[in-house]
Amino acid sequence: MILVAGSGILASQIASKLRFALVAQTEISRFASGEVRVELRGKFFDQNAYIVIDSPKSPNDSFMELFLMIDTIKNQKPKSITVIIPYMSYARQDEGETTPIACIANILKFLGVDKIITIDIHSDSARNAFKIPLVNIEMTDIFAILIKKQQSPNAILISPDEGSKERVDKLSAKLNIPYAIIEKSRDSTNSAKAISISKEVTNKQCIVIDDIVDTGGTLLSAVNLLFSNGAQAVHGYITHGLFSKDCLELIYNSPLNSLTVTNTVEFTSPTNINIIDISEIIAHNIHALEKDNK
Ligand code: R5P
Repeated sequence: MILVAGSGILASQIASKLRFALVAQTEISRFASGEVRVELRGKFFDQNAYIVIDSPKSPNDSFMELFLMIDTIKNQKPKSITVIIPYMSYARQDEGETTPIACIANILKFLGVDKIITIDIHSDSARNAFKIPLVNIEMTDIFAILIKKQQSPNAILISPDEGSKERVDKLSAKLNIPYAIIEKSRDSTNSAKAISISKEVTNKQCIVIDDIVDTGGTLLSAVNLLFSNGAQAVHGYITHGLFSKDCLELIYNSPLNSLTVTNTVEFTSPTNINIIDISEIIAHNIHALEKDNK
């Protein structure tokens, strides 16, 4: 097998856990106009190639890098190509006149990708857009272990919108605690407003579950609604911390009691955010695939 890393540090963290992996040398640069240039040094002929990309701060560049890497590798006739995209950008736009995730899925198929590994893809419809095998690693089990350590007898899980209902439903069954759903409205792409909550939260320990924190609008609007409805404490467990704009500062200055995210997206962590390292989990999945590919 051979591991290929795009921009970002996650790939090197995964490589350090895959003791037997050969790592290809990747050089990514830009022409003055912004065009992406990718140079790969490695022997891919008859190898199982695993490409990791983890730079969703610039999702467009990161997909372009990926397309060029796949194409370069494909020219050397590898045995298989697996792409690891820990945070799948563009999956939020999973319905409407155009579905960008279906477009990306089609390009990856056309380029000859055999398999994709991702973590907590936004929705089932985004997942179903892929016509090649996709392994979606769910964080539910790990969240359940961590929540169990922290939960009090009056705990309630909170879905900050309809979209996370299924996640919360699964966790609720695992932890045997109730859940409530917030009705959220969006006036524009980047503004979320929590309107009402389906259950009483007075004096409850509220645990908000979501897949993405981007501007923080969804989370913080939920936090405000919960506290104004008498919540005793609010904790957040969110898979992908995109933390766009001034999100980290807003979180820091909010009454949120704690926040746990994964490192699918690279960010400089203020001390009040707990981070789950997913490189080991991904390395484990690559090992499992490698056994199947032999
Ligand atoms: C929406 O459907 C997602 O699950 C997240 O709730 C949303 O993308 C978070 O974005 P923001 O932090 O900007 O509200």
